[in-house]
Amino acid sequence: MSPACQLPLPDCTTWNGDSRELLDRIPDHSIDLICTDPPYNLGMYTTGNIKMSWRSDFNNDIAAWDQDPFDPGEWLVPFQRVLKPTGTIFAFTSYNLLGHWHEVFDPAFDTFQFIVWHKTNPAPKLRRAGFLNSCELIVAAWNKGHVWNFTRQRDMHNFIESPACGGNERLKNPKHPTQKPVRVLRWLIELGSNPGDLVLDPFMGVGSTGVAALELDRRFIGIELDPTYFEAAERRIAATTLPLPLDKAATGTPDARHDARRHPRLQRRSRLHQY
Ligand SMILES: C[S@@+](CC[C@H](N)C(=O)[O-])C[C@H]1O[C@@H](n2cnc3c(N)ncnc32)[C@H](O)[C@@H]1O
Repeated sequence: MSPACQLPLPDCTTWNGDSRELLDRIPDHSIDLICTDPPYNLGMYTTGNIKMSWRSDFNNDIAAWDQDPFDPGEWLVPFQRVLKPTGTIFAFTSYNLLGHWHEVFDPAFDTFQFIVWHKTNPAPKLRRAGFLNSCELIVAAWNKGHVWNFTRQRDMHNFIESPACGGNERLKNPKHPTQKPVRVLRWLIELGSNPGDLVLDPFMGVGSTGVAALELDRRFIGIELDPTYFEAAERRIAATTLPLPLDKAATGTPDARHDARRHPRLQRRSRLHQY
């Protein structure tokens, strides 16, 4: 298929299963932006949960899925196959894997950089025995001809500051240990793609990338292994793509028109597909 092919898929497609197999369903060079958050393999460095007498345990264990070795090198070929030659990759990672990402992706792409996300509300370290884990890293790789929607120099810092996901945004059931804030994903997607572009997240968890992509009028493909997270992602994405509530849409009030202008997605019907 040619790099310029139009993918015959609806606005949003989600698959429950293993990306190692399901990526094969995606045509060559059809993706504009891979924006993803694969396992960090931090489990082996944690101190485990810390018991507290006055509150619930501090949870330092990430999750069982994070224990499976994640090798960025296994993903270069499938990512390059599905990505347009002018496409961009953003991948959240951690200090222990940054070198592996660089080793494999830097020679394969025109440019390799990293972005720092500073969390303003990191988990405390009660014994004050080291730095807080207040920063996460995001790998960025692209070739010439890629999209950069920068406006001013001050927007071009490889740094974003935002609290870790909490409050109403944070799902309670299921609770995903690494749910990312939609605000951070919107920033990445807005910088690295245009409306109508196709965004892929092959490790979508509870669907934060999908929510951000659809809010920004991009198309989205998401894959998640865990059925409980997958169902939660589908619910969140479906809520994002719902048409305007009837009372607002029908009346065409100034409020409704304002909402529709701010959220172009509200003007069209998106479809949610599960295969
Ligand atoms: C770091 S989390 C992503 C969290 C996501 N950014 C969010 O905001 O919800 C990584 C996810 O990848 C999933 N995963 C791990 N290996 C996978 C694979 N081979 N195929 C698909 N999903 C996988 C895990 O179940 C986990 O939910």
